[in-house]
Amino acid sequence: MNVNVKASKLAELQADALVVGLFEGASANEGLAKDLDGATNGLLGGVLAAGDFKGKPGQALVLHLTGAIKRLVLVGLGKSGELTLEKLRNVGGKGTTIARDAGAKAIAVAVSGTEPGQWSPATGAFDAEVAAQAIAEGALLSLYQMNAYRTKDREEIKTVDSVTFWTPEASHQEAIKAGVATAQVLADSIALTRDLVVQPGNVITATRMAEEVQKMGKEVGLKVTVLDKPELEKRGFGGLLGVNRGSVEPPKFIIMEWNGGPKDEAPIVLIGKGITFDTGGISIKPAEGMEKMKYDMAGGGATIGAMRAIAKLGLKRNVVGLVPATDNMPSGSALKPGDVITAYGGQTVEVLNTDAEGRLVLMDALAYASKDLKAQAVIDMATLTGACVIALGTDAMAVLGNNQELVDRVLAAGEKTGDRGWQLPMWKEYNELLRSDIADMKNIGGREAGTITAACFLGRHVGEKTPWVHLDIAGTAWTEKEKPYRPKGPTGVPVRLLVDLVRDWQGAPKS
Ligand code: BES
Ligand code: MN
Ligand code: ZN
Repeated sequence: MNVNVKASKLAELQADALVVGLFEGASANEGLAKDLDGATNGLLGGVLAAGDFKGKPGQALVLHLTGAIKRLVLVGLGKSGELTLEKLRNVGGKGTTIARDAGAKAIAVAVSGTEPGQWSPATGAFDAEVAAQAIAEGALLSLYQMNAYRTKDREEIKTVDSVTFWTPEASHQEAIKAGVATAQVLADSIALTRDLVVQPGNVITATRMAEEVQKMGKEVGLKVTVLDKPELEKRGFGGLLGVNRGSVEPPKFIIMEWNGGPKDEAPIVLIGKGITFDTGGISIKPAEGMEKMKYDMAGGGATIGAMRAIAKLGLKRNVVGLVPATDNMPSGSALKPGDVITAYGGQTVEVLNTDAEGRLVLMDALAYASKDLKAQAVIDMATLTGACVIALGTDAMAVLGNNQELVDRVLAAGEKTGDRGWQLPMWKEYNELLRSDIADMKNIGGREAGTITAACFLGRHVGEKTPWVHLDIAGTAWTEKEKPYRPKGPTGVPVRLLVDLVRDWQGAPKS
């Protein structure tokens, strides 16, 4: 699909559909609406006057035209003083999918913003680069599809040939180009994340995931190292090896390095849970709904997508991505309840439930990030607990950590990007639920506060002085309900949050 930016008069625009966001109460007597009214011989003015289109957030209306623009897709922006980036993303996403589903191949999306530097929603606009990035994120992310496994009726699949972000303001062209370029990197990177997450466990094994990362790393200039089973055994990655014991697929510990910062600067480390399929192991899950556990590597997928975007954007920081990858299977050689294993770093863990496996592979990576990489900050993300879905549903990830400054930065990046989170506490009372009679800790804390005790477990494997945040994305990594720029399926959360955080990195968080 081609992505273009064009500045021209309305009369010089050609498209199968033009997507336009309009505020509540928009008048056909000013701005772009006036031009469109003229170009449609008063049709738009009539529609607005009749009240058929009110501009409420989420409202959309398709008008069929004759001429160089075949359809006009109006999408509501809400009240003009209440504009947010998320509303712009939603308009980009909703308008573009409606155009695609109506059969448009060449789609134009109108971008309007202020001159650079006027970052205020109160003016009814963001500056052109920021606005363009948001609209383009919405548009490009909304068009994601996974068709690799459809062999029949492929001609019925509706695809788009080109999306053109268009402005009538020639002076905004460069700003819009910059915003669209960023959005395109993010959308392509999130498409990689979504591809990895949506594909089944028989395709995306740990070995295949490592291969895909090697390939991507070559394309974007990331250094990729994959630790194989013998190496993991030699170095004592007891968590990853323990979870892998029931599998016929070998485990992989994937390391991606981006050195965009000064040589001696400690890295920011991103860690993603890479369970390519979670049966629960010997503590096996019920059959009903088990197929969804192919998305148990969504944290790993997001880490891979974020590292791609960070490299492609050439961000000026040192960042390392880690993905401990394996499936979690029952078999004669599998981990059993009661087994004791030793984490990378030496602490012992009594495994009372083999379905609490994510924390076991993450503990090795967290210790490696603290001890070997001497990270200035660590952020891990994981579809870690069903309890998180119950607590926060599908619109907010759980955010927990040992450093309030880093937690606050992550929450702020989440608000800005729409990858939203909500903090849960990590008081020491919760930590006591992990006491084991036989080892340094057990891997479950009981039914209560499952998301918190899981985070407490992880926290024990992070260096005491290492600022760390954990994101539980069990509820947000997948959506069963189509959202404006999140088609049904894997969402690619929290790639945009991570890239924004690294892009605007404010140095090592204070403890
Ligand atoms: N991958 C699951 C968590 C999960 C559940 C993610 C539902 C998405 C939707 C994780 O490995 C798991 O099984 N967690 C257990 C932990 C329990 C045994 C302490 C859970 O949440 O039930
Ligand atoms: Mn599990
Ligand atoms: Zn799991």
